[in-house]
Amino acid sequence: MSGVNEIRSTFLDYFKKNGHEIVPSSPLVPRNDPTLMFTNAGMVQFKNVFTGLEQRPYKTATTAQKCVRAGGKHNDLDNVGYTARHHTFFEMLGNFSFGDYFKDRAIELAWNLITKEFGIDASRLLVTVYHTDDEAFNLWKKIAGLPDQRIIRIPTSDNFWAMGDTGPCGPCSEIFYDHGDHIWGGPPGSPEEDGDRFIEIWNLVFMQYEQVTKEERIDLPRPSIDTGMGLERIAALLQGQHDNYDIDLFKALIAASEEATGIKAEGDRRASHRVIADHLRSSAFLIADGVLPSNEGRGYVLRRIMRRAMRHAELLGAKEPLIYKLLPSLVNQMGRAYPELVRAEALISETLKLEETRFRKTLERGLSLLSDATSSLHKGDMLDGETAFKLYDTYGFPLDLTQDALRAREISVDLAGFTDAMERQKAEARAHWTGSGDKATETVWFELKEKHGATEFLGYDTESAEGVVQALVRDGASVPEAKSGDEVQVVVNQTPFYGESGGQMGDTGTIVAEGGKIVVSDTQKKGEGLFVHIGKVVEGAFKIGEPVTLIVDHARRSRLRSNHSATHLLHEALREVLGTHVAQKGSLVAPERLRFDVSHPKPMTAEELKTVEDMANEIVLQNAPVTTRLMSVDDAIAEGAMALFGEKYGDEVRVVSMGQGVHGPKAGKAYSIELCGGTHVNATGDIGLIRVLGESAVGAGVRRIEAVTGEAARDYLSEQDERVKAIAAMLKVQPGEVTQRVEALVEERRKLERELSDAKRKLAMGGGAGGSADSVREIAGVKFMGRAITGVDPKDLKGLADEGKSSLGSGVVALIGVAEDGKASAVVAVTDDLTARFSAVDLVRIASSALGGKGGGGRPDMAQAGGPDGSKASEALEAVAAAISG
Ligand code: SER
Repeated sequence: MSGVNEIRSTFLDYFKKNGHEIVPSSPLVPRNDPTLMFTNAGMVQFKNVFTGLEQRPYKTATTAQKCVRAGGKHNDLDNVGYTARHHTFFEMLGNFSFGDYFKDRAIELAWNLITKEFGIDASRLLVTVYHTDDEAFNLWKKIAGLPDQRIIRIPTSDNFWAMGDTGPCGPCSEIFYDHGDHIWGGPPGSPEEDGDRFIEIWNLVFMQYEQVTKEERIDLPRPSIDTGMGLERIAALLQGQHDNYDIDLFKALIAASEEATGIKAEGDRRASHRVIADHLRSSAFLIADGVLPSNEGRGYVLRRIMRRAMRHAELLGAKEPLIYKLLPSLVNQMGRAYPELVRAEALISETLKLEETRFRKTLERGLSLLSDATSSLHKGDMLDGETAFKLYDTYGFPLDLTQDALRAREISVDLAGFTDAMERQKAEARAHWTGSGDKATETVWFELKEKHGATEFLGYDTESAEGVVQALVRDGASVPEAKSGDEVQVVVNQTPFYGESGGQMGDTGTIVAEGGKIVVSDTQKKGEGLFVHIGKVVEGAFKIGEPVTLIVDHARRSRLRSNHSATHLLHEALREVLGTHVAQKGSLVAPERLRFDVSHPKPMTAEELKTVEDMANEIVLQNAPVTTRLMSVDDAIAEGAMALFGEKYGDEVRVVSMGQGVHGPKAGKAYSIELCGGTHVNATGDIGLIRVLGESAVGAGVRRIEAVTGEAARDYLSEQDERVKAIAAMLKVQPGEVTQRVEALVEERRKLERELSDAKRKLAMGGGAGGSADSVREIAGVKFMGRAITGVDPKDLKGLADEGKSSLGSGVVALIGVAEDGKASAVVAVTDDLTARFSAVDLVRIASSALGGKGGGGRPDMAQAGGPDGSKASEALEAVAAAISG
């Protein structure tokens, strides 16, 4: 007997030996199919390979695929725990041929594996084929040597497998195992086929067609193969068990549950242990693949699964959160095959604990309400819809949990009444809805949100995904179609595009469909939960209901991630350097740079900025993984996560942590922990480098830091480097000597300026000592020095006039400075002995008016004025001379 892990590897190794590529399981949230809630078969990840849309480097493959069947089309949730073979989570083993081998080789490979490798007794096997598939019938006869009566023709859809309403499909052939006549049941196709004696173990699908629409079916480019074998079933068979829950893996999980509750898995307690073991698997794997409990879509299915398990834990007497305690046992069983489980263990554990803590707060009161409401009901009665809705709405009991709780007493729930109650509540919410801002537009978003629910955001894990168009909005109104050239706002059921929030700008990219393309220039969140893609149709047309592929601009998103993570690191470094009074006052995470405003009363010094930058870069170099967890706000804050004061957070928050502290109180602890819904790098090293550009004031007590990261930081540094090199070349020195050389040049320049200024003054005043004779004359017994000068700063004129006065001893000095642009400044100085006769102010006004100006001012011994017309300098001097002469 071999364990589940050995059986899985035997299967994969067998097909590898036979030329198949072992391909890892794809995530439970399908990336390539918007209509599918969860990956529910091995072929899902290969859908486009079958149809020829996608090429892979191999033509045959084998996988062990994680599958969830809960919610959506295939829903096994209600039965889990009460039957031998229902699971919400299971693994499907499969082999695939993409136009390589077909029926004969598929049958041969399958038959050899089960009869030779697995050693199953061939006499206990029988197969089914689609009733018209003579080829398969004959191949089973030839290859397996099965007699006619053990090859059963089935005319129903049981032997025609289709992925969904559309997609690859084809006739199939199933292999059954006969557990023996001690168990009731008949072979497939017989009236007793629902019995447990004959169990299907493997389904071989001969993929031949693609269902394009409901009516149209076309041939695939090449006939292909898709097979699916439930690992739990084959393990049960190989381990001599009839019941999947008796295989080694489930035994271990149930033993852990028995130990945690102290209750044996016997009698009517058995179902509860099974529910817990099964739901632990689906919850853990869903969380590891990015689904978190919520009230919508996939998140709500997860919540239903989790709460169902939690009620069963309560039934087993658990008084506090229990499910998370079983996680180590699951990781121990499955972590080697699925390393994502190990990586996400902390996240899964905290999410389970949080959900159970929260649910426990209302669980008991809900159960007691339920028991009061049903105390007078009997087998076959129905619980009213109003109570079921109250349990749902007030106590967080998903409908199926209430149904499950009443199952043993065979009491059903009035589903129509439940829906009525829900509708009534929605109508009330609608009546109370008041939009903010532009009412008409807001109302559109509210109505769309109500109709379709929130958009599911896939962008933490992927940058491209398929979605279905739910609405096209133009000019504030929903339209059925958008054509080439139209500006349009698009709502889809799920998207990898980040909607602007928390300072991070919305994503851009493209939305493509078979018939068209939209260029998305922005993504915004509207109506509390809708992601609205704002763009323009550049090709073809789009219709509501159409499947589309959404592709985020990867390069831009990478820069956004890097800038966002850098913002967290700078925030922590700022607190470390400036003090914990530093609080975030706003931020902008753009692709080309980041901006971060913090409360701090004074400008930061260059040294402080440098230390902040160094500290943040220290964490970049650690290349530490960036981890995200979902927690309650209280727990997050208790752990030291930084939250924005006044920000409205939901009950659960994403907490992003990165780096290991090196200095001070953070040494050895998580460096940055923040509540954040943004997108981040995987490891701090992805940021590359943080370069702070500077800081400035944005208001009283608020400073703004701007920085660049990664490539932008490198470009910035290269530019600086180029500049230094260019300067060095000009200066004819090595780049390392630039500072010294520039210092010397500055000093030399200062000296030259001083010398030049002296020389100019000397020149202006007529060169040598004692003034220049030619500019001095006597007018009516008064010595007059009149000079027009260029190249002298107007503010030096007064000083020169003083010099003139002392050289004259007694007299009047008039200086007209003419600037390069032709404007003139005039200064008139009168020695003290003459101020009684002449006023410098009057004289300078005369000069000014000759220069085309007006006014002038100063004191009687020194006055200054200006005028626009420097070409009139001689006239102005003459006018002053004339005034002296009287
Ligand atoms: N797709 C088929 C199934 O799910 C065979 O893998 O049964």
